[in-house]
Amino acid sequence: DELIVIVPAAGAGKRLGLGINKAFAMLNGAPLLVHCLHMLEATGLVKRAVVVLAPQEVVEGRELLAGYQEDYFRTLPFCVVAGGKERQDSVANALAAVEETDCYIAVHDGARPFAGRAVFERTLAAAKVHGAAIAAVPVKDTIKVVGTDGIVTATPERSTLMAVQTPQIFTAELLKQAYAHLAAHPAAVTDDASVVELMGHKVATALGRYENIKITTPEDLLFAENLLAQQEQEDGK
Ligand code: CTP
Ligand code: MG
Repeated sequence: DELIVIVPAAGAGKRLGLGINKAFAMLNGAPLLVHCLHMLEATGLVKRAVVVLAPQEVVEGRELLAGYQEDYFRTLPFCVVAGGKERQDSVANALAAVEETDCYIAVHDGARPFAGRAVFERTLAAAKVHGAAIAAVPVKDTIKVVGTDGIVTATPERSTLMAVQTPQIFTAELLKQAYAHLAAHPAAVTDDASVVELMGHKVATALGRYENIKITTPEDLLFAENLLAQQEQEDGK
């Protein structure tokens, strides 16, 4: 069973505030997206990556990635497809570029370079049992439901709450069916498991890792640069 990874990277990076798509933000000598593809190759589990960039970034992005491939992800085949307005549109476009049916598809954010082999292994193993599985970690903070007026309306018990990451891994058949269902019954979602859940299908969780952050706001860059430097030191040894 082969694993194909869809890598959504077609956002605007507004919260990071660099004025560019954060996929191209330079971290320790390479763009964020390149570090992510390096990590995907290093898992040893990925057959190929389908990278999603904004339509106006596709041509230049493809060339930029090709320039880093030799040094960072030499053995990982990749293609670049045009994304859409929302993340769910980007994933839908990428799915249309996956012809394979007898395989697993992981969706993994281009902004998460620290998932690592163990998280991919655990999530794939759970997907093989349940058809759909997502990496998740127990929340550390107490989470409250808050109204638009800023007033707390509920406090779900913390032990029942998990913060969800990517990879999110599905059988190709299930993920394609779920996105077809979403196209027929439009809804706003923030992750791929939600699309499968909307069909009433079960989604399993596998243990993610706290290091597997999605680089989103400026303080995340400090963490990322430190961890990348540490990894490069370890790889050099
Ligand atoms: N993404 C995408 N297509 C979109 C929007 C987001 O492929 N239309 C991707 C982003 O590039 C990112 C991932 O989905 O890798 C997670 O989204 P997020 O962290 O929200 O990234 P951005 O949308 O770029 O950031 P922001 O919301 O701060 O603008
Ligand atoms: Mg966004």
